[in-house]
Amino acid sequence: MRILENRKTMNFELTEEHKLIRDAARDFAQTELLPGVIERDENQSFPTEQVKKLGELGFLGMMVDPKYGGAGMDAISYVLAMEEISKIDASTSVVMSVNNSLVCWGLEAYGTEQQKERYLKPLASGEIIGAFCLSEPEAGSDATSQSTTAIDKGDYYLLNGTKNWITNGNTASVYLVIAQTDVEKGYKGINAFIVEKTMEGFVVGTKENKLGIRGSDTHSLMFTDVKVPKENRIGEDGFGFTFAMKTLSGGRIGIASQALGIASGAYELALKYSKERKAFGKEISQHQAIAFKLADMATEIEAARLLCLKAAWLKDKGKNYDKLGAMAKVFASETAMKTTVEAVQVHGGYGFVKEYHVERLMRDAKITQIYEGTSEIQRIVISRSVLK
Ligand code: CAA
Repeated sequence: MRILENRKTMNFELTEEHKLIRDAARDFAQTELLPGVIERDENQSFPTEQVKKLGELGFLGMMVDPKYGGAGMDAISYVLAMEEISKIDASTSVVMSVNNSLVCWGLEAYGTEQQKERYLKPLASGEIIGAFCLSEPEAGSDATSQSTTAIDKGDYYLLNGTKNWITNGNTASVYLVIAQTDVEKGYKGINAFIVEKTMEGFVVGTKENKLGIRGSDTHSLMFTDVKVPKENRIGEDGFGFTFAMKTLSGGRIGIASQALGIASGAYELALKYSKERKAFGKEISQHQAIAFKLADMATEIEAARLLCLKAAWLKDKGKNYDKLGAMAKVFASETAMKTTVEAVQVHGGYGFVKEYHVERLMRDAKITQIYEGTSEIQRIVISRSVLK
């Protein structure tokens, strides 16, 4: 009996602060993102005003130390906010995810004081936004095969090459660009650089016309003899590949949470619709064919949420989260795809028209299985971890 009395249980409760952050994100999504979300998707228009307001709420530099303009929150808060924003507008949440995870985190973890003062402060406060540039026409998953080169010229590096599929491609002011500085050294000859949009020789290519997350701006970028000052290199010489991998590891928690939000947004819509719509003399939720779909959706979403929160919890504790982040991303993105397809099915013909939102969520879900590492890449990361 003594053992039972003294027994400690795991704590799955959110703190009051976590609940406040989640509720603030939910309110923001309902009042600021929901109106106009269909039009922004249709017209591929970037949520400029909405992103500005996200910055004012502290959601663009959520985990950054307040001394660098951030909100000083934990990764759990980030997951909660990403889920709520993504339930309504995944085009806005990808801007948030890239700025938080791929840009601010990398600069705070590995930038010099000077780099943090000059770039992190405006990025974390939402004054400007950033982009992360790794993918190339011939190097997406195979990230060590960088063709973009940055040749050491003494005081500066001369940057040449093309980057593809860059989120925030045109709206960003600051870009973290991964490039090969020494081909002989393979991935050990890769570096990361801070590039400003105004640098001579930097051109933003045409905007991609996408299946989903159409409100976000995705571009190719061209660099021709761009002179990047030496002090804009991040970390020691040759640190670029590790920098990219570590940054993407945290990014995967963000995209997993985006996928979770897309899934839970679609599930909530399907649940509501199934209680309103009647067929064969009763609400469709009372037919097992629909009730079982809802049961599966709820179960998988709960599992995805637990994986996202566990990965974030590990990050907050300073423990390694590479494997859990990859698990969260592969599971949540597959759940998003499955759930949104089923949510359209629950809605029947209404699900196929834009006013009901689920068709957009279904289109948005697909990218979560592709960017920041495809599902296949996540399985590489997980299998290497379990087999070592
Ligand atoms: N942390 C630290 N070091 C790491 C690491 C990590 N997470 N992952 C790998 N490394 C190290 C390895 O230990 C190794 O170093 P050693 O030789 O000293 O041990 C080195 O980096 C090379 O690693 P690998 O041999 O594992 O390299 P690989 O060629 O086999 O590739 C990979 C590994 C996991 C497949 C990697 O290439 C990868 O993650 N690819 C996917 C890239 C990606 O996510 N692209 C998406 C683009 S970004 C995006 O989508 C942004 C957007 O706009 C939304």
